[in-house]
Amino acid sequence: MLNKENILIVDDDVHILELIQRHLQSLNYHTYKAISVKEALEILKDTSIDLLITDLQMPGVDGLELIKYVSEHYPKIPKLVVTGFPSIDGALEVMKSGAVDYITKPFTKEELKLATLKSLELNLKVRKTQKVKEELAPKSYGELIGSSIAIKKVTDVIERLKNNKATVFIHGESGTGKELVARSIHYMGKYSSAPFVVVNCGAIPENLLESELFGYVKGAFTGAEKDRKGFFQAANNGTIFLDEIGNASLATQLRLLRVLQEKEVVKVGTQKAEKIDVRVIAATNVDVKDLIKKERFREDLYYRLTVVQIEVPSLLERLSDIPLLVDKFLLKYGIEYKDRFLKITPEAIDILKKYHWPGNIRELENVIQRAIIMCDKFVDVEHLPEHIKYQINFPKTDKLLSLKEFEKAYLLKVLHATNNNKTKAAEILQIDRKTLREKLK
Ligand SMILES: Nc1ncnc2c1ncn2[C@@H]1O[C@H](COP(=O)(O)OP(=O)(O)OP(=O)(O)O)[C@@H](O)[C@H]1O
Ligand SMILES: [Mg+2]
Repeated sequence: MLNKENILIVDDDVHILELIQRHLQSLNYHTYKAISVKEALEILKDTSIDLLITDLQMPGVDGLELIKYVSEHYPKIPKLVVTGFPSIDGALEVMKSGAVDYITKPFTKEELKLATLKSLELNLKVRKTQKVKEELAPKSYGELIGSSIAIKKVTDVIERLKNNKATVFIHGESGTGKELVARSIHYMGKYSSAPFVVVNCGAIPENLLESELFGYVKGAFTGAEKDRKGFFQAANNGTIFLDEIGNASLATQLRLLRVLQEKEVVKVGTQKAEKIDVRVIAATNVDVKDLIKKERFREDLYYRLTVVQIEVPSLLERLSDIPLLVDKFLLKYGIEYKDRFLKITPEAIDILKKYHWPGNIRELENVIQRAIIMCDKFVDVEHLPEHIKYQINFPKTDKLLSLKEFEKAYLLKVLHATNNNKTKAAEILQIDRKTLREKLK
């Protein structure tokens, strides 16, 4: 009998790790070892794991947090805990956190075998109920995080597109996740094993245009020492992502239009056309209609590209997704910089939810990354950048303020926020204390 299940074992004690591995291998399971949560996360990222066996007490991020994380991000993976501390309370907490079962050290091979079988089997039942739950409140769609209605609209379209090759046009402010949406269309669908090729349309030098896009044959020009594929051929059977399409020169646009019409490419140095079969996804953060009016974008190309359009919402339109996104970044950078999971206070989250995020998710990611570097144990308001901490709450009414009124309101706001600390207030306002005193008079 050959068990095909992949089992990931996590323990900071190498002896236990190897012991469990030997046992499981003799039972024909496929095993992966990790001596830290960090390593475990790496393995989880690119391996399909059927069961997680983990220790609880480990330096840095402990097993309990790993279980919580796996329950949230890989809800289908059952968890088996190996613990040296069979305290009832501890066990309860493990159960609540989503672990399926646990065994205590020292254990026999038979105990391990039974627990493994039980966990894998229970998993089949769990899967069924979990599927229903996931459908009710999904927190992410692959890498795309969010449960807001705004992001749901996007993922619904991706669902419809992922298994066909319709041309897609993605528009959205910078940092909203356009590339991530394009990748999701490709990697969530049935063509995911084919290539996904990114072309930055604004960055191709005019003189290399043809050879970059379509490739060349040996001897086509000096320096062409061997045949080379262009972007389109490299993406054959998969997806070509035409990023920053709004920045494409008119010459590039013309070449692109031809390929889209003819569905074939001709390498530089030949006459022979080669058929290609690629899905085209284009993206931009500029208003292409406006470019068309200014005659900087070809209308015919625009209509070729916009078979299906996706408008990626700004973060301002999906502020409710902030906690989920923050969690993701806390995990990612917490592990990277501090070697553990970090938490954030509700006060800090509140402030993040009030900001207007001109740089969208990329800006949020940077803010969290910085906060993690600045903090010791957890992220709090003090670790957020000044301009986010002391935002001006523009009045919700349409009443516009004079500069004087506005200045007064803002001075008071900063003073309030700094607990009347004039030195600090002056620092934030970037004026000296004397000026501040005068203004206050
Ligand atoms: N829904 C999301 N869930 C998780 N991460 C996201 C999401 N959207 C964007 N990100 C992250 O935000 C960053 C910016 O995303 P991306 O590069 O896709 O944006 P973009 O719209 O292409 O930006 P630009 O206009 O600057 O090219 C990336 O690190 C990406 O992983
Ligand atoms: Mg981009």
